Amino acid sequence: MFDTIPFQYTDDTLACEDVRLDELAATYGTPLFVTSSRSLVESYTAFELAFAGLPHFTCYSVKANFNLNVIRILGELGCGCDVNSGGELFRALKAGIKPEKIVFAGVGKKPEEIASALEAGVLLMKVESVSELHAIDRIAGELGMVAPVAVRINPNVTAETHPYITTGDSKEKFGIDEAELEEVFGLLGKLKNVTLKGLDMHIGSQIFDPDFYVEASVKLLDIFNSAKELGFCVDYLDIGGGFPVTYDPSKPATPIGQFAEKLIPILAPTGAKIIFEPGRYLVANASVLLTRILYRKRNHTGKEFFVVDAAMTELIRPALYHSHHEILSVVRHDSTIKADVVGPVCESSDFFARHREIDAAGEGELLAVLSAGAYGAVMSSNYNGRLRPAEVLVSGSEAKLVRKRETLEQLIQNEVF
Ligand SMILES: Cc1ncc(COP(=O)(O)O)c(C=O)c1O
Repeated sequence: MFDTIPFQYTDDTLACEDVRLDELAATYGTPLFVTSSRSLVESYTAFELAFAGLPHFTCYSVKANFNLNVIRILGELGCGCDVNSGGELFRALKAGIKPEKIVFAGVGKKPEEIASALEAGVLLMKVESVSELHAIDRIAGELGMVAPVAVRINPNVTAETHPYITTGDSKEKFGIDEAELEEVFGLLGKLKNVTLKGLDMHIGSQIFDPDFYVEASVKLLDIFNSAKELGFCVDYLDIGGGFPVTYDPSKPATPIGQFAEKLIPILAPTGAKIIFEPGRYLVANASVLLTRILYRKRNHTGKEFFVVDAAMTELIRPALYHSHHEILSVVRHDSTIKADVVGPVCESSDFFARHREIDAAGEGELLAVLSAGAYGAVMSSNYNGRLRPAEVLVSGSEAKLVRKRETLEQLIQNEVF
């Protein structure tokens, strides 16, 4: 069990803070995401403490978990937001984040998304290509304003992580290559409706080794110095997100302090304000996905299956990245069994665990899939006609429904028939 997350057994029943998970399942049904507000506060506080020695500004990466309540809690602690679309911008503003605390990223921003972000008054518009720089300049001109931009660099650093979540390598679509920077700086000197405010990078997600950040930051600083020599005044250096969390207790994440220890001495002397964009680090371990065992099944080879009522439609990470999630029985058992935990969706990749030693819970009992707070509910889908799940936020002994379960009517509401 993780020490830091507030999902602990009390009298052999798993609870979130002071609320028993079996009671939440009885009230709200399953599958159900349960989020601890205390965990959000603790993760943000730990991050801020680690980087306290550096003038910085933390922008929560909304893509990890876009529930308005999650954004609001982090916003009330002082956090800004990193958004990747007009939809995420809409959510961040609705949750009460001030536009001047929002940075807007994304490799394919539509003109209307650029316009709405500029009109809202975001702190920085990231630029991911020469074409996009022209588009931002044109749109800002039409709006009669000068757009504050940050050039996203592709530092060509291949961080050791799952290939689907490495983003700082030059074979990926993200950011601008070093070879193109001369042209970009030339344009920034000429274009009238953009002003260079920052340089930015994001090298991937769930990165365990701080040295990848060091390698990429050194490259970013070279570019920062070149920009200064060209007469640009770069106020912000955005290091991106990607800080790791523990999913599997046998593979504990590198503590955030070790990233700070290596990065602060490199970044502090720049005098720039440093932006961080953690997503997963702030939210992953704050939520569980609560699910009920529908059937237990044993095939002729003796293989055991727990067929549960949650599926890849609620948490796609095991199917997409083969990622590990700890699974606990809500009521503790004395014996365990080796089983696959699978969902009802018609795909062999619809599993939460394979060959896992798990409490020998019976049909009708509840399981909690841990570390489901990041890239969980946000990636949920209606595949197989499934209804997006409900979400509950717990604070101490209070539980609040923060997203209703979808209904069958909602499933077809946008269809013209
Ligand atoms: C630009 C950018 N910033 C921040 C993040 C957040 O990453 P993480 O959740 O790993 O911290 C991402 C994730 O893809 C991203 O693309």
